Amino acid sequence: MRKPIIAGNWKMYKSFDEAIDFIDAIRNALPDKDKVDAVVCAPAIYLPALVVETEETALAIGAQNMHFENEGAFTGEISPAMLAGINVDYVILGHSERREMFNETDQAVNKKVRAALTNGIVPIICCGETLEEREAGSTAQKVAGQITAALAGFTAEEVAHMVLAYEPIWAIGTGKTATADDANETCGAIRSVVEELFGTETAAEVRIQYGGSVKPENIVELLSKEHIDGALVGGASLQADSYLKLLEAAANA
Ligand code: 13P
Repeated sequence: MRKPIIAGNWKMYKSFDEAIDFIDAIRNALPDKDKVDAVVCAPAIYLPALVVETEETALAIGAQNMHFENEGAFTGEISPAMLAGINVDYVILGHSERREMFNETDQAVNKKVRAALTNGIVPIICCGETLEEREAGSTAQKVAGQITAALAGFTAEEVAHMVLAYEPIWAIGTGKTATADDANETCGAIRSVVEELFGTETAAEVRIQYGGSVKPENIVELLSKEHIDGALVGGASLQADSYLKLLEAAANA
């Protein structure tokens, strides 16, 4: 049985005070850690404070990006060693917004995944197709390519502990969710890629999230599907009450 994992992706939202208020609002209402992994991926500048704020809670803190080198002359970047040094547990890698707006390539994502593992950070590796690619029938091919590239050079044991996230680009922030069956089909295709590359056991262990307009109203159906083990959530993770509802649904899935 794969434990569900709900990760909020706050993107570039919230003031510092709002971030702290959010933690205060959820800290005593978090479901049991045995039932669901709860993660919030916050803007980098808030990470040190949020890690301290959540020390005694079931909430884990994640970053939204990082460089693949541990140090160097990379003005403005944040390194995996820096994240690990303040006890950040997760990092989102290869989000479509970073691929599309910041020219992040499959090769860079692969290097970042390696750097995350070296530093003991769990990567949440994103993949997903554009509307044009979906309409052309190339969804499975697109995500297979992204996942194969991201996982190149890893062992089955390493892959088993990663988190993969299927986020159709056309469903992000648009209110359009893939149907639960469509989302499940693509998550299943991703699991088949993992099986081909790393074997049945690894494919059965690796957790695959769906992301794209996930909200309390649709999470139950999504999580009822065989290959969907959690959600990567933008908008609905910004309010404490809707984030808690998502966690509750996952804890009871
Ligand atoms: P929304 O939930 O706002 O559609 O965002 C999805 C996403 O990009 C999470 O990484």
